[in-house]
Amino acid sequence: MTPHIYFNSDIDSPVEWRDALATEFRAFTFSTAEAMDSPDAVDIALIWQLPPQGLKQFRNLRAILCLGAGISQLDPSLLPCHVPLARLVDDSLTRTMVDYAKTAVYRFHRAFHIFEQQSRERTWQFRPPTLTRDTSVGVLGLGEIGSSVAKALGDEGFCVHGWSRTAKQLAGINTYLGWGGLWQMLPRCKIIVNVLPLTDATRAILSSEFFSHCRDGVYLINMGRGGHLVEQDFLAALDSRRIAAATLDVASVEPLPPMDALWNRPDVLITPHVAGISIPRVAVRKVAENIRRALAGQPLLQQVDLARGY
Ligand code: GLV
Repeated sequence: MTPHIYFNSDIDSPVEWRDALATEFRAFTFSTAEAMDSPDAVDIALIWQLPPQGLKQFRNLRAILCLGAGISQLDPSLLPCHVPLARLVDDSLTRTMVDYAKTAVYRFHRAFHIFEQQSRERTWQFRPPTLTRDTSVGVLGLGEIGSSVAKALGDEGFCVHGWSRTAKQLAGINTYLGWGGLWQMLPRCKIIVNVLPLTDATRAILSSEFFSHCRDGVYLINMGRGGHLVEQDFLAALDSRRIAAATLDVASVEPLPPMDALWNRPDVLITPHVAGISIPRVAVRKVAENIRRALAGQPLLQQVDLARGY
């Protein structure tokens, strides 16, 4: 089996991926150039984003393996619908997402966002620390990543609530279901962490209606997608202090344009979509398994249902 892989990503390292694939396949072809002599030989597209002209030139594609857990960066109209598409959630992605969530939650829990400001203003003002059990955190989305985030925060002693669209039971986590469940959960949360996939059902979920159910002074951490957040509603909720402060790892346009109103707000910390990534030397096992499955004509792991959106 000698897979011919086309690779395209402006965030993942082609060299690291090629080296990692070499630990799994004795022989394979790895191309990063859009223009190639034999596009018909390509059987696997390993991509974070689509190349500008889509994947039509690869007429014998057997699988599209997305390097992300989320696939909303892929324009569905440019995806050949007869080719199976898989997303990638592996231990390294989950671990980096969990670490980011814990860091961002602790920053609010231990008031570092206030000390950062005080330190810029040369202000020495004591604030007593509190116990994690006195901070309630709501996690939106309890899929593979969300349930790991919720469990990790629970292990730190936080009082964790979790919301999902389909029923989930997680030891030690208070779970809620559907819109009614969301409106019940929100007033109970001091910090909200969004790790939902972006689908038709979740697009623009972080809206004025959502914020109206939150308690005053809530903290928001968005590690999902920019499309979850209605920016005007969010800015209004910050201005009215309904939201005390936020951490945004994602934006509806990435990179976030320099003139965007989200920059420069002392109550918003922007990170450049770094919350989680699949590290090639770890994630290659899952990718290699999917390449083998694709070449054998078997269903893929984490195969995406385009109608569902993830
Ligand atoms: C990152 O945003 C991913 O979807 O993996």
